[in-house]
This record gives sequence, C-alpha cells and structure tokens, in this order.
Amino acid sequence: DSKKIVLKQDESLPKAERIKLSQKDEGLIGKRVKVFGRIHRIRVQKAATFLEIKDGYGKLQCILPAGDLTRNHDALLFAQETALAVYGLLKRVPEGAEAPDGRELHVDYFEVVGGAPSDLEAFSNKVSKDQDPWEASMLDNRHLVLRGDNASAVMKLREAIELAFVDSYREMEFTKVSPPAMVQTQVEGGSTLFGFPYYGEEAYLTQSSQLYLETVIQSLGNVYCIEKSFRAEKSLTRRHLSEYTHVEAEMDFIEFDDLLEHIEELICRVVDKVLANPTSAAYLKLLNPGFQKPSRPFMRMRYADAIDWLNAQEEPILNEEGKPHVFGDDIAEAAERKMTDIINRPIFLTHFPVEIKAFYMQKDPKDLRVTESVDVLMPGVGEIVGGSMRMFDYEELIEAYKKNDIGHEPYYWYTEQRKYGTSPHGGYGLGLERFIAWIANQHTVRTCSLYPRFMGRAKP
Ligand code: 4AD
Repeated sequence: DSKKIVLKQDESLPKAERIKLSQKDEGLIGKRVKVFGRIHRIRVQKAATFLEIKDGYGKLQCILPAGDLTRNHDALLFAQETALAVYGLLKRVPEGAEAPDGRELHVDYFEVVGGAPSDLEAFSNKVSKDQDPWEASMLDNRHLVLRGDNASAVMKLREAIELAFVDSYREMEFTKVSPPAMVQTQVEGGSTLFGFPYYGEEAYLTQSSQLYLETVIQSLGNVYCIEKSFRAEKSLTRRHLSEYTHVEAEMDFIEFDDLLEHIEELICRVVDKVLANPTSAAYLKLLNPGFQKPSRPFMRMRYADAIDWLNAQEEPILNEEGKPHVFGDDIAEAAERKMTDIINRPIFLTHFPVEIKAFYMQKDPKDLRVTESVDVLMPGVGEIVGGSMRMFDYEELIEAYKKNDIGHEPYYWYTEQRKYGTSPHGGYGLGLERFIAWIANQHTVRTCSLYPRFMGRAKP
C-alpha cells in the first residue's frame, strides 16, 4: 500500500550539495546534489519515472527508479508544477541519450515542497501551449503562462536586452537618470494622457521622459533612462500597450545625421551583445531561429519619398480612408507595416511634416514644411523608435506651444533651457517591447511584457 511507504533519506550517503541548474561545471558530475525545482514534465515507465525539473536557471532530467521512490503517496500525486527538493547523484547521460546539459540526476530521495493539482485544475488544463496570446483565458492566466518555456525565454531574453542597452550606453558615455512618472505636462498629445488627482491638483502618468532628459544634458552630457511610459491608447493593436518600457536618450551639440548614426550604432551594439552572450543567444535561437543581424547602413527614406513609394506599388497601399496617400497624411500602422514587410530591412523614415508631429520638433532648415524627425521601422513590427532634433530657439518654441494650443506655463522649466545656454540637441525613444517583438519574432508586444496592460486589462 503506497500510503504506508514513508521515504527516508539514507543517512549513510554523502551530504548533498545544494546547486542551482545554472551551475554546469564538470566538477559536479559524480557528486551527490540537492536541487529545488518544479516538475516540468513527467514520464512514467515500468523501470523508472522520469521527471524534468526546472528551477528558473535551467532544466534537469531526474530518474526515480521504480520502487519505494515511485510508489509512495507523494510520488503518485506528482503533477506538472509540483515543487520538489530532489537529491541524488549527478551523472553524464549515457552515450546517445539526450537531456538538458547532457546530464541526469539519479534520485535517491525527494521531498515535496508544494503540491500542484492533477485534476481538472491541472496546469496543462489551464495553460495550453497552442493558445493565442490574445485569448482572454491566456491573459487571465498570465501568471501561469509565464511558467512555460516560451514565455520564460522571452523574459530571460528581455533582461539580457535591457542589460545590453545599459552596457552600450555606458560604453558610449551616457549617464543614466530616473525622471518622474507623475507629471503635469504632456509630451505626445493630450488624447493619450492618463490623468489622476494629485493632492487637489491634476497630474498625469508620463508619456515620455524626453522633456526631463532635455533639462539635464547641460550638466550631465548625454543622458538616457529606461522607465515606464503610459499611454491611454483607445485601440487594441498588436503593438500598443497602456504601460510600456521606454528606452530614451538625449544628446547635446549634435546634428540630425549624428542622431541617425547613433541610433543605428546603438541597435547594432545591442544585437551584437545579445548574440555574443551564449545564454541570451540560446534564448534568441529558441524564439527566433531565423534571426539575422541587420546589415548596415540601415536604409534611409524621407517621408515624402515613402508617400510616393506607397502610391507606386503595383497595388497601391492606401491611407486609412481608402485613398492614395498624399503629403501630410499620417502613415497609419497597417500601411507602415506593409511597407516595412515588403522592404524587409530596417528603415529610417525621416523628415515628417510639421503638422503630424509633436510640438517640440525642430524644422528642417532646408524645407520648413518638414521636421528633423525619424521613425525606425523594423520588419514584422513597424515603428520601434521615434526621435527628432528639438526646437532650441526660445521664441520659436513659444510659437509652437501657441500653434498646438498648449498653455506654456506648466512648461516653464522646459522652455527655460532655451534661455540659459541653448544648443542644438536631439534624442529618441525606443519601445522595449517592440524591440523584443522584432528580435524574438513575437506576434504582439503583449507577450514581451511581464503583465501586459492595454485597453480593458489591468490584471493580473
Ligand atoms: O514615437 P513616440 O511617441 O515618441 C516619444 O514619446 C518621444 N518623446 C521619445 C523621445 O524622443 N524621447 O514613442 C517612442 C516609441 C515608439 O517608437 C514605440 O516604440 C514606443 O515608444 N511606443 C509604444 N510602445 C508600446 N505601446 C505604446 N502604446 C507605445 N507608444 C509608443
């Protein structure tokens, strides 16, 4: 009777060394070890039960020979996600056999740390691999979805990418700062502001840290931040979140071309770092086996030429009203995506008309209808970066507030940069989730965020 079998550790065995599965040194082979982890897969055979354990650092094949170890009450209740401490001898897998890191644990003892249901509530009934990340049940169960191979690989890769940005900026001598999330100014238009009461005043969640970055280049030199930005987007798309991670930088004493050069260099450095690190490269390979590093230089295309390009297609790519694009039209998400997918390489789309861009953008001195602005478009995703040179003349900026119907008082601290030693400067913001969607070939930015927020969803 299995209920009567009580497992006991054999005290005559050597004391097990506790390890994490990131520890892969040869010296552990032949040693008795203890691993905490959860069951990822179970395979019961006549001679033995095979458990694949994962601990957040790696995976381990565990072999429990049939006998007391497999016939006790706890073992009969093994289920996916049961938390265990497993003890045993770590060995190389026999010639020809395959297992994670080429090793296996010959278990001599285990303890259940936390059980998991094996009935209707079982993990596999809650989270199916083939489900669409758009489905409400997948989103409701995000806390469980994150335990899966793909979702956890995206999160591991995300961390590596974020660190690659930090390393790249440090190499390029950018100083990291941390601007506020609660603000009283808009950056990218009033329609996507989240407002909230703030001690009897109105405040917003920041849409971008740009304005704050612009106020510190004078004392800190080139600066960057990796902070959350918030947008009350009122549509559900593959690439819009209400809360996203924004990599933003601002550079002093530059020209527009310097800005473009820098963005290209940054993206390529980050890609190189991710590929150079065996761990992140492996996650990338798992998620996007066909990934190829983009070739340089990136294509540069002016907005006006993009309009011509859209109209010149055999089947012209139309605007949102179903008409041919004209100068001044916003190139909407669908058209932009089509264009990027046809061209199929990174594009710097530049010189957008003044009317469709933010109030702070510097005009092109050679063509005052357009701004010194850039969107970086990537195949599969479209825009991942938006940047520009900033208006640096005091009077011109005051005019721009008026033209855009923005009361300039709350911006006094921003405007005054133009009074105390102004300079030509520029910067950009990169959506981290969009960058990940591009590099990891994700269908939507939702799977690139730990707990995605978008219209209608703020849980879990
Ligand atoms: O083009 P955007 O609106 O530019 C700015 O916010 C500038 N103030 C940034 C700057 O110059 N410092 O946004 C920049 C990038 C976009 O290219 C996109 O990648 C991302 O932020 N982004 C979003 N990502 C996910 N969900 C949303 N709702 C996003 N809105 C923008």
